[in-house]
Amino acid sequence: MRLKNIDDSYIDSSVTLHGWIKKIRKLGELIFIDIREQTEIFQLRIEQTNSSLFELVSTLKNQFLIEVEGVVKKRKEINSEINNGHLELFVSEIKVISSSNSLPFIIEDKTDALEQKRMQYRYLDLRRPTNFKMLKFRSDVYRFFRNYLDSQAFIEVETPAINVPTIGGSKELLVNSTNFEDSNYTLSQSPQVYKQLLMISGVDKYFQIAKCFRDEKARSDRQMEFTQLDIEMSFTTEDEVKSLVEGMLQKLFTELLSFELPTIFPKIEYKDAILKYGSDKPDTRFDYLIEEVKKEKLLEQSSNPFLKKFANQFLFSLKLPIVLSTSKLKKYVEKAKSENELLFWVKKEKGTISSSLKPLEETFINSLEINDNEIIFFNFKATKEPMFLGRLRVELAKEFDLISSKERFNFLWVEHFPMFTIEDNVIGASHHPFTAPLDENFFNEKNIEEIKKYDSKSYDLVLNGNEIGGGSIRINNPKNQRFIFEKLGFSDKEINYYIGWFLEALSYGTPPHGGIAIGIDRLLAIMLNKETIREVIAFPKTSKATDELTKGPYKKNDKI
Ligand code: AMO
Repeated sequence: MRLKNIDDSYIDSSVTLHGWIKKIRKLGELIFIDIREQTEIFQLRIEQTNSSLFELVSTLKNQFLIEVEGVVKKRKEINSEINNGHLELFVSEIKVISSSNSLPFIIEDKTDALEQKRMQYRYLDLRRPTNFKMLKFRSDVYRFFRNYLDSQAFIEVETPAINVPTIGGSKELLVNSTNFEDSNYTLSQSPQVYKQLLMISGVDKYFQIAKCFRDEKARSDRQMEFTQLDIEMSFTTEDEVKSLVEGMLQKLFTELLSFELPTIFPKIEYKDAILKYGSDKPDTRFDYLIEEVKKEKLLEQSSNPFLKKFANQFLFSLKLPIVLSTSKLKKYVEKAKSENELLFWVKKEKGTISSSLKPLEETFINSLEINDNEIIFFNFKATKEPMFLGRLRVELAKEFDLISSKERFNFLWVEHFPMFTIEDNVIGASHHPFTAPLDENFFNEKNIEEIKKYDSKSYDLVLNGNEIGGGSIRINNPKNQRFIFEKLGFSDKEINYYIGWFLEALSYGTPPHGGIAIGIDRLLAIMLNKETIREVIAFPKTSKATDELTKGPYKKNDKI
């Protein structure tokens, strides 16, 4: 029988159990063996009077899988740290089902094994109870989503993983096939286009727990393959999508973590998030906001010729209640410099004010509100996007424990991203090309400079400073959809070839629609307080996108 099924009703009964040996303790005339199965541990007791068993035990090692027979008894000394710590098995027989090699690391929750080793032997790593709990939690979350969305009349539809590229989207992984010599499919970066097609088909409430694939550099919150809870609804609004997600997550957090989330999550406009937090995924668990400073005070009276160069730029500041050494501060100034930014600081320690910028005018210093043990960082920026200060804000808040521990789960909607963003002089859709503008006049604009000023009906869901979801209201007519691709710089020929089939689909009575996708790996990592999404994926790739277990990827032309 399974360890988890034992209870007091088995006292004095004979049972057969199996489990992996966790620990063997020899105490003179007695031997105790702890066996484990998943998260359950059970104590076996072997008496010296049974000499053949005593002999057999000397051949056993940790993680041998054994089957034991015996009678369940009450223990004299209770171990209150484990389930059934008041019971033990008086063993009459032991059979080795499967022996084990010497272990590469200790299979306990607390392990000092390197991640690389754990991933190489992931099947052993998953024997650690914490990992079993993680797999079970993930399974519970999937079941919860399915039940919840079913109760709201959503239907689950699978869409192809083998797909064609979406122009203007993320970078896709190619699929080579012997079916085609000179063509490629791609792996689906998300079910975006298919879920929109389902709206055209009349499926009014769709969801899918979908595997997505993107050719991206692996990071702590990013894998080439990941899982989304993908949702789409017809005749919907931004508010309806948000309240669906809020209701679902509140119930999820109550049921699985006994944690009560607010009924409505706070919202911030994208532009405000950038200005106040220097980030499109602000961590609002702590204050200390970025402020725009009147640079005139500094520039006009300054005798520092260097500063004149920044006369046309915006000046931002960030004040933090921390003490940092001048050498550490120098590193930040250098880092900013390497990113072509001017960062300087003013700090007050033991009543004395010092600064990295010299000479600094007294009038400017006198205008600052600075207390003892505070630092104010200043950053000149050509645009109103103080992202350097935003990163500094988060890094230092973590280092100096400025984040309130009461704020375990802090959700936030970031709304109305611009329609387009420009990176390295290349125009791109800031959410994705299927996103509708807030203002329909957008589609009448000819001038690209004007077009760049328009915002979209988009929303990202942020949890503790991490983007865990994103969605939008979509464009639902082919003319407007074509307009977007044209403005993104695609030729008519390209549009017709790559996405013409979708534009055609939009021309058959498409209902207005919108939706969202939640990154399940990121959500789970935060719910379970894990550092990386690798810790919530059964068989993840490493931070270098390799697979230590299977030794993947294999060289393209290896002949073995
Ligand atoms: P988006 O690209 O914002 O939107 O993705 C939605 C969410 O998926 C998660 N995510 C990732 N997680 C792990 N590794 C990755 N490489 C990765 N990339 C994204 C994030 C993100 O918020 N089709 C749209 C959704 C929509 O508009 O409905 C989409 O895919 O948590």
